[in-house]
Amino acid sequence: MKPISRRNVLVLGGIGAASAAVGGIGLSGAWTSGIRSTNGEKLVEPKSLRSVNGRLRVRLAASEGQVQIAGRQATALSYNGGLPGPTLFVHPGDRLNVTLDNGLNAATNLHVHGLHVSPEGNSDNVLRAIEPGTTFDYEYQLPENHPPGVYWYHPHHHGFVADQVFGGLYGAIVVEDADPIPASRERILVISDISLDDNGRVPAASPMDKMAGREGNLVLVNGQLGPNLTARPGERERWRIVNACVSRYLRLRLDGQHLQLLGIDSGRFASPRDVDEVVLAPGNRADLLVTTAAGTAVLRTLPVDRGDVQGMMGGARTSTGVDLATLDVTGALALSPAAVPAQPVPQDLRSATITARRELTFAMGMGMGMGMSFTIDGQRFDPARVDVKVQAGAIEEWTLTNTSSMDHPIHLHVWPMQIIEQSGQILDTPAWQDVVNVPARDSVRVRIRFDDFTGKTVYHCHILDHEDQGMMGIIEAR
Ligand code: C2O
Ligand code: CU
Ligand code: CU
Repeated sequence: MKPISRRNVLVLGGIGAASAAVGGIGLSGAWTSGIRSTNGEKLVEPKSLRSVNGRLRVRLAASEGQVQIAGRQATALSYNGGLPGPTLFVHPGDRLNVTLDNGLNAATNLHVHGLHVSPEGNSDNVLRAIEPGTTFDYEYQLPENHPPGVYWYHPHHHGFVADQVFGGLYGAIVVEDADPIPASRERILVISDISLDDNGRVPAASPMDKMAGREGNLVLVNGQLGPNLTARPGERERWRIVNACVSRYLRLRLDGQHLQLLGIDSGRFASPRDVDEVVLAPGNRADLLVTTAAGTAVLRTLPVDRGDVQGMMGGARTSTGVDLATLDVTGALALSPAAVPAQPVPQDLRSATITARRELTFAMGMGMGMGMSFTIDGQRFDPARVDVKVQAGAIEEWTLTNTSSMDHPIHLHVWPMQIIEQSGQILDTPAWQDVVNVPARDSVRVRIRFDDFTGKTVYHCHILDHEDQGMMGIIEAR
């Protein structure tokens, strides 16, 4: 199996039919001893919690304990005793209150990934640590014009992020549309990976796994291994997909079914795009319409070559191909669904006046006796230093350059990025994402509007092992 070049793949979520010959690897390749497939079990959705009258109040208790993973008892981390945590459904303009109980034996905190909310105080403030045995009340006020879409939450306490996300702490957030999109079914698919040893525990990551970014040997959909979905032919389903993996890239296909991509992250296209596959770097989300055709289809991820740790034997990394779920489509033909309503025209900064330009360089290197270093502009993360100062309201253009031999998916909190140029190609339509892959030895140009909020927050590589080792910087908007 020949992994396709990431240069060609990662331009956008939607790609043509250039890769038809590549197949998936059977699930059995991904099992470790003692793991039982849940293949054939019905897909279980995480619990849904919905806002009422503009408010949603949620308690999330993070703890380590016994959970069901891939059909057996395991010891892992979870919010409220199951993984993924509950899905939070809110509307633009809503207020979300989350009480976080830290029942772990380490500090943690909570980040609402992709939400356009304040980074200060008790809002999306990832610079605050919530100590073990303590509780903290977060409050997020969504603006009235918050973009609808798929978001997610996860811990963000520097140095512990990869361990805590890999261990099981994540959940989806949906910001609902003003005009609902007609669908016979809406599904949440949180895709995550984890490793379990013979005792059902998550083994510690090796030094090489930390350098390359750990990938689990089980790839789960809503905590299940190989679940089954059913539908009638002619239905339109809406799938909201989260890549909650620490380092694994997903290249999703569902051959034989008609796929239309509504958007990636908070970026909604003017009209749905027909796609054969969807590529999600760690942290990215897809909002996907599936129009069903009779037969059995396999949701699979195909291999993605994400480069290598330069100069290290065994440092090459390819996110493997794995079958994730099956979709059985049988029965009487459903009535054709109503048309997808026109989507709001996306914001476009291509002709905007730029107030500042910056270059950020992401690098990996061997320091003298220090092991591998992960830096931005030559520096490791320091919570006491502000790396980038921006004017509130500014529109900036950033060139993200990756000098290393591995891909880095770059993420900025609070403000989404419009991709202008990727791997030398100028994009001809607006594409807004909050995680943008920067391929090895390549660069990407983005534009950002620093609107609505001030305060300090972070940008970082969303291979969370890299973030924990220092590939993160602080930005302050004033
Ligand atoms: Cu999904 Cu700063 O993170
Ligand atoms: Cu984030
Ligand atoms: Cu990285």
